[in-house]
Amino acid sequence: MKKILGLVVGLSAALFLPSYQEAQAEKPPKPHQKTEIVAHRGASGYAPENTLAAFDLAVKMKADYIEIDVQRTKDGKLVIIHDNTVDRTTDGTGKVGSLTFDEIRALDAGSWKSEEFAGERVPTFDEVLKRYKGKIGILIELKSPELYPGIEEETADLLKAYHLDKPRNGKVIVQSFNFESMKKADQLLSRVPIGVLVNRSADTTDEAIEQFSAYAEYYNPSYGLVTEELVAKAHEEGMKVQSWTARSKETVQFLLQMKVDGIITDYPDYVK
Ligand code: G3P
Ligand code: CA
Repeated sequence: MKKILGLVVGLSAALFLPSYQEAQAEKPPKPHQKTEIVAHRGASGYAPENTLAAFDLAVKMKADYIEIDVQRTKDGKLVIIHDNTVDRTTDGTGKVGSLTFDEIRALDAGSWKSEEFAGERVPTFDEVLKRYKGKIGILIELKSPELYPGIEEETADLLKAYHLDKPRNGKVIVQSFNFESMKKADQLLSRVPIGVLVNRSADTTDEAIEQFSAYAEYYNPSYGLVTEELVAKAHEEGMKVQSWTARSKETVQFLLQMKVDGIITDYPDYVK
């Protein structure tokens, strides 16, 4: 049916060719598809990063995704925290992988940002999926997966448990700076988009981009590496581009001009 309709439209266009061409010429250029807003560690410009307060605010600000960093406690619980230690973002000290979940959960993850957020806790991966599934997209970064052998399988199991391994059930992307880990994730989660995080110019060559496209759907460079040509090359290889981390309105404007597909920012309200 679609084919027949196409034939009719094509014939009509051919019959009225001059006016059809004129109409095309008058058309303004197609606007770039809406740029997706990714709240980096939640709306972390305004609330403590990687906490429910920051994620709730991102939802309120109508971001398209929250970005989260996944690591593992000593006793095997997947938790959401950026640094490999709890020192900067909680009132405790020590490595994430050397502390038990109960020890980490007892820490205050909000006061360092502002007293207003006192009592915020380090969330678990499980509770983030439960709370935000279907409400907002989730850009999942496996942070330092080389420190946590088997974290790809655990991530895949959890996504499957929430039926998030199928695109129709919610927007999720799994990304990392560790490319071997992402190749593994791609094998385990064949229907979940995979992203490569890039911060070295060696990973911006045509050859590198072609190699990434064998297993990744997202090519996510730091904004300092972004050019229109780089974005076009990633698009040519069938990947989308989400760039990070925009912390000023100027950077947001620059990335919009570069026609990236998504802007990863601490300030979701900077992207109009
Ligand atoms: O999502 C991109 C960005 O989060 C990568 O860097 O250090 O903020 O995790 P980082
Ligand atoms: Ca991150």
